[in-house]
Amino acid sequence: MIIGKYPSLRLRRSRKDPWSRRLIQENTLSPNDFILPIFLIEGSNKRQEISSMPGVYRYTINRLSQIVDKAIKLGIPMIALFPKTQNSKKDELGTESLNENNLVCKAIQEVKKRYKNQIGIMCDVALDPYTSHGHDGLIKSNIILNDETIEVLINQSLLQAEMGCDVLAPSDMMDGRIGKIRKALDKNKFQNVQILSYAAKYASSFYGPFRDAVGSKGSLKGNKKTYQMDYRNSDEALREVALDIKEGADMVMVKPGMPYLDIIKSIKEKFKLPVFAYQVSGEYSLIETAITKKLINKDAIYESLVAFKRAGANAIVSYYADRIDKIIK
Ligand code: PBG
Repeated sequence: MIIGKYPSLRLRRSRKDPWSRRLIQENTLSPNDFILPIFLIEGSNKRQEISSMPGVYRYTINRLSQIVDKAIKLGIPMIALFPKTQNSKKDELGTESLNENNLVCKAIQEVKKRYKNQIGIMCDVALDPYTSHGHDGLIKSNIILNDETIEVLINQSLLQAEMGCDVLAPSDMMDGRIGKIRKALDKNKFQNVQILSYAAKYASSFYGPFRDAVGSKGSLKGNKKTYQMDYRNSDEALREVALDIKEGADMVMVKPGMPYLDIIKSIKEKFKLPVFAYQVSGEYSLIETAITKKLINKDAIYESLVAFKRAGANAIVSYYADRIDKIIK
């Protein structure tokens, strides 16, 4: 209940001074709130800028420590690995996803060997970085197959778990995959590998720069509207989350972030479980470009991030995570 009446109550009184604003603040940011996505490329000694994402780079395995050192020093709890697979290794079935020498597998092993348990590793479970058509699943006669795709995702999950991945993040939006992956993990003694389900993942135009970063942009045929969610819907997000909780998800992700704060809030209120938000590539690039063009100032970054906390997110996947010290200051 909101009580009080002007002129005896003046809310500007507590906004007048910086110390007072600090006292009454409801939300803050700390490095503990962040997950840092890292893009991987083949080769050695390369750190390659992604043209559609200024300030974000792809790293070869032998250069990974450069960015992981930084994440650990900043106190970021987890990194998320994304591969840019060579076109020659992509095929219709996404076979490379099951290669134990693929970029992600090599990176997991490298990070675990070097840093042990100092930082968590999260990996997407989906086929789009590996398929020649850029879709997250197998295709037959232009239809993305659900159950057949899950069989591959189970093997991808088991492989990544075996390599040492701590958190599997199915981002494919196939129906029923969380339950089947959980079951396979448990059967293979990976009871402690966590599942972060991209439960409410919308078919969004805001993923554009990411698809460029992992090299699936040119190859993607059509769109992902038959498996990712329709952005006109919100009740449906609650059904997706409810199913995934039943199937064994430890945490859920809402994606994209900023246009979907209402979804974060209602999931958090209804289900009381850890909810993560993904400030996706398009959001990042929009903000960066606007800052470079001096349309908005740098404070917009903090503002965009604290909005997720206000909506109820426990953590944020953000391409800003590696610069969070400067943003928080
Ligand atoms: C793949 C995946 C996507 C993103 C994360 N995992 C793209 C997509 O679904 O096409 C997007 C992340 C971003 O835009 O930053 N399943």
